[in-house]
Amino acid sequence: MKITVLTLFPEMYEGFLKTSIIHRILEKGLAEIRIVDIRDYSNDKHRHVDDTPYGGGAGMLMKVDVVHRALLDNISNDHVYTVLTAPGRRPLVQKDLERLSTLDELVIVCGHYEGIDRRFERYIDEKVSIGDYVLTGGELPSMVMIDGILRLLDEGISAESLKEESFNDGLLEYPQYTRPPEYNGDKVPEVLQNGNHKEIRRYNLKMSLKETLENRPELLEKRELNKEEKELLAEVVNEL
Ligand code: ADE
Repeated sequence: MKITVLTLFPEMYEGFLKTSIIHRILEKGLAEIRIVDIRDYSNDKHRHVDDTPYGGGAGMLMKVDVVHRALLDNISNDHVYTVLTAPGRRPLVQKDLERLSTLDELVIVCGHYEGIDRRFERYIDEKVSIGDYVLTGGELPSMVMIDGILRLLDEGISAESLKEESFNDGLLEYPQYTRPPEYNGDKVPEVLQNGNHKEIRRYNLKMSLKETLENRPELLEKRELNKEEKELLAEVVNEL
């Protein structure tokens, strides 16, 4: 997969692309990422990319001609999928990352200042928000998207762990423990130490249901529970 990021702040990506799992995925050639400086497409000598809005108002807007030139110069054909980071849309969820991870080529345009001249929106396929809050720009949101997409491409993350993880089956993850078996009087649950895989699976499923009920109850309403899950949820509710 090829991902191109159009940004005013290319330097923000340096540490991100060189660190840990993301670095490993890129080294393995599972994805290629290009960071493009939008300022390179400004046509004035001060490399301006923004201007004041028509009609007045606070702040500056990114200029449509500059950002469009940057986009045109960095897509190989009209079918390349393009997203613009912006607050205000339905926030990104895991299913969006799964969908985006199947693309051959993706361009992410990072918005900045008060946004981009509205006329730019005709050249993008989708606006992406990472949450209902306002950041100074789209760089962190683009890194959030890239991080979430790349890990789905990574063979190093086993299919088993992707299958088990939060949100994949609409439930939160169950709590996990490692050595020591007791810390400050706090013990690892007995059942996890007994090696009985059937019991462990059932216990973990019950704990997933408990975590979800306590922290994100609305997820349980969205999800059809099977017979075993209903039984376990009833046990959880009884024990509360
Ligand atoms: N730009 C500013 N805030 C943002 C957000 N929450 N998501 C995506 N892009 C943004």
